[in-house]
Amino acid sequence: MTTYINPGLVKTNRRNVLRGSLLAGAAAAVGGAALATPVRKSAPLAAPRAAAPQFIQAEAQAQAVAPKVDLSGYTRVKQDLVAPPFAPVHEQVATSGPKIVEITMDTKEVLLTVDEDTGAEIWALTYNGSVPGPLVIVHEGDYVELTLRNPVDSMMEHNIDFHASTGALGGGGLTHVFPGEETVLRWKATKPGVFTYHCAPGGAMIPYHVTHGMNGAVMVLPRDGLKDRDGNALTYDHIAYIGEQDFYLPLDENGDYKTYETAGEDYADSIDAMRTLTPTHSVFNGSVGALTGENALKAKVGETVLMIHNQANRDTRPHLIGGHGNHVWEAGSFSDAPQTGLESWFIRGGSAGAALYTFEQPGVYAYVNHNLIEAALLGATAHFVVEGEWNNALMEQVVAPKSIEA
Ligand code: CU
Repeated sequence: MTTYINPGLVKTNRRNVLRGSLLAGAAAAVGGAALATPVRKSAPLAAPRAAAPQFIQAEAQAQAVAPKVDLSGYTRVKQDLVAPPFAPVHEQVATSGPKIVEITMDTKEVLLTVDEDTGAEIWALTYNGSVPGPLVIVHEGDYVELTLRNPVDSMMEHNIDFHASTGALGGGGLTHVFPGEETVLRWKATKPGVFTYHCAPGGAMIPYHVTHGMNGAVMVLPRDGLKDRDGNALTYDHIAYIGEQDFYLPLDENGDYKTYETAGEDYADSIDAMRTLTPTHSVFNGSVGALTGENALKAKVGETVLMIHNQANRDTRPHLIGGHGNHVWEAGSFSDAPQTGLESWFIRGGSAGAALYTFEQPGVYAYVNHNLIEAALLGATAHFVVEGEWNNALMEQVVAPKSIEA
């Protein structure tokens, strides 16, 4: 028998068993259902509070009577989403009017190796199978029209909260899909910038899903493209889409990472591990080494890279060792002038940021979370391998290391 993992254990019908997030009573049971279990080792949690039913009803009523929107001026296009660190095909400057951009995401629950050296693995909760979920790119004034599908063999309910959108918990209130269901949500991109999106099924399931990989980024470009602080056009040759993920993997009594048979089986152990607020891993793009070695990001001297950094849960501080952030929108808003010439920049948990850099020297550049403990010990390191000619005018080894003469 399939066991659906949901804290709202209200056994009235299938949807209610699976749901929980919008039902006041079920949401109050979030803590109770998970925490009454004998495997709990940490202190009881506060039960998450749900919105009062009359307010939820009023919101549904307002949506039911709202006039239909006229979309006759829009053309429809499909955007084929691709796995990170890559970006979908897009225009930097829009060459035509606003569009309805159709995308599809499947909420796949996949067993992911976090670190093959230590056997660390997790039943990741994902959009389209990757951590982070795919990067979506539209222009200001476009609509995003998402078909969200939850495969029939999933264990859990999922939804999506787009920080770039307006209303209904970022769409979270309108996109709850249970195994074997799909839904379509359309929202207008009114704020230019880079924004995170994430799953938010309700209560303790929100951080559980987010720290199991269920997050990604949307970039809403100004229609006339990126600008420096003086209003001059900025362009890029490549996008490097980096999702930093904090994982909290449960350990067994020997200190080894625990393994589980199915998605969701780690729920009680995970809640205990998450409560420590101390991640076992902080990795780029799902696993240790996902963007190093053979998987390193590539560029050439003279090329400009837009580094998009997503962190849906926890603060971080990207730094490109040997380079800079020439233009940085660290809080993600393209309505604000970019900061310039930064050494490190701050990405608030629950946001995405963007940094533009033009490589001037060849070599290997480490792109790290400059909490260097997290970079070196928890996995938050990527590499850019840059080809081209060395410029001695910028740096030169005048004397190679040698013994000091007495
Ligand atoms: Cu989810």
